[in-house]
Amino acid sequence: MNRICVIGAGYVGLTTAACFAHLGNNVICSDVNEDRVRSINSGELPIVEEGLEDLVARYLASGDLVVTTDNIVAVSQADFVFLCLPTPEGPNGRADMTRVNEVASSIGPHLKVGAVVVNKSTVPIGSANVVRQALQRQDVQVVSNPEFLREGTAIHDFLNPDRVVIGADDEEAAIRLSSLYVKLGAPIVVTDAATAETIKYASNAFLATKLSFVNALATLCESVGADVRQVTLGMGYDPRVGSSFLKPGPGWGGSCFPKDVAALIGMAEDAGYDFALLKGVVAINDLQHRRIVEKVVRLVGGDINGKKVALWGLTFKANTDDLRESPALKIAELLAELGAQVAGYDPTVHNGLEGLTVVDDPYSACQDAVAVVVTTEWDEFRWIDFDKVGSVMQRRVVVDARNLLDASTVRKNGFTYEGIGIR
Ligand code: UDX
Repeated sequence: MNRICVIGAGYVGLTTAACFAHLGNNVICSDVNEDRVRSINSGELPIVEEGLEDLVARYLASGDLVVTTDNIVAVSQADFVFLCLPTPEGPNGRADMTRVNEVASSIGPHLKVGAVVVNKSTVPIGSANVVRQALQRQDVQVVSNPEFLREGTAIHDFLNPDRVVIGADDEEAAIRLSSLYVKLGAPIVVTDAATAETIKYASNAFLATKLSFVNALATLCESVGADVRQVTLGMGYDPRVGSSFLKPGPGWGGSCFPKDVAALIGMAEDAGYDFALLKGVVAINDLQHRRIVEKVVRLVGGDINGKKVALWGLTFKANTDDLRESPALKIAELLAELGAQVAGYDPTVHNGLEGLTVVDDPYSACQDAVAVVVTTEWDEFRWIDFDKVGSVMQRRVVVDARNLLDASTVRKNGFTYEGIGIR
């Protein structure tokens, strides 16, 4: 029975801890946030993640999972210690390793001889050496094992990975860590630490590039009268393009893409390479938020000063409660800069937010509004009663930034409807 310690009980840590317990290991998960630990132990998870609540409850009850606030006790008997700590974007775009360094320095003296310390969080290229230095131990190993979990499907993604990536400078450590994943039957890519760390950043940066490409393509489609949905359908049959991740939207957001793309640009710069392509990917993403606002202004007659605009969806994508780097909030900010009053509805958002009024149903958001923007692709927006929506709005304008709605149904209710990249 492997004894695993996971440090950090956030999106990545709690998912990793619960899934390793599910795979038959004995897991201790520790987090410095006492409130977070208390709520997890009482069954109230601080994050929305399909299936996580059940897994945590099951393994807390069986004793295969323990959640604590004491890092030192948690690491002392562990064969593997997974660091699932925040590495937020620093002031210059580089990932901030403060927390990782602090934790590594504090646990170093308490690790079992032969323990394997695993960088699970996305850490800058070269971090395995940084952690090794902070641990001040010659008799433990440091390995990179980046996560590829999407919010909203993290459990599925952990248990059904496209691949497991292990970056180790010590073969025995790589073999030991691989044994934790063998049951999953996925390809295991074993390489050195720097290469594994680069795989993670390159994967996210490529996905962001693909999205900025399709968002730019949507703008072109509007100019040439093409339908981006058909264009991407025709493209996607080529396996070199692939049909996933080709839906235009209000821009990509979340806790990973913006941070990881900025970090890769910064690391490239530090290494003497100007990653101009990625800078273009970011520029197109920033522009996409503005393009959505321009559509609203144009469709309501050129001026939204003093008028109300509704946002349907505030989270960065559907099936999560995460507002971090959400395009919806950036769009709200741009609308407010033009003098609009913004009301937003999202099924998972109930607290107030700066610069907009959060309401608890999609119809209230539209009361007296001159336009409504679909910013997050929550399924419930497909079934809205547009006759009822129209009856409460000052103007019947819909800007569908996710091409989620059926245009003919919306137009039949007297609305001006505009999606992105479609007629
Ligand atoms: C991402 C990576 O997918 C995951 O592998 C990594 O470990 C963490 O970062 P996540 O940020 O949870 O996961 O969200 P993801 O589903 O990848 O979407 C990222 C952004 O792209 C969201 O804003 C989403 O709305 C947008 N998106 C995604 C599109 O605009 N169109 C698409 O077709 C897909």
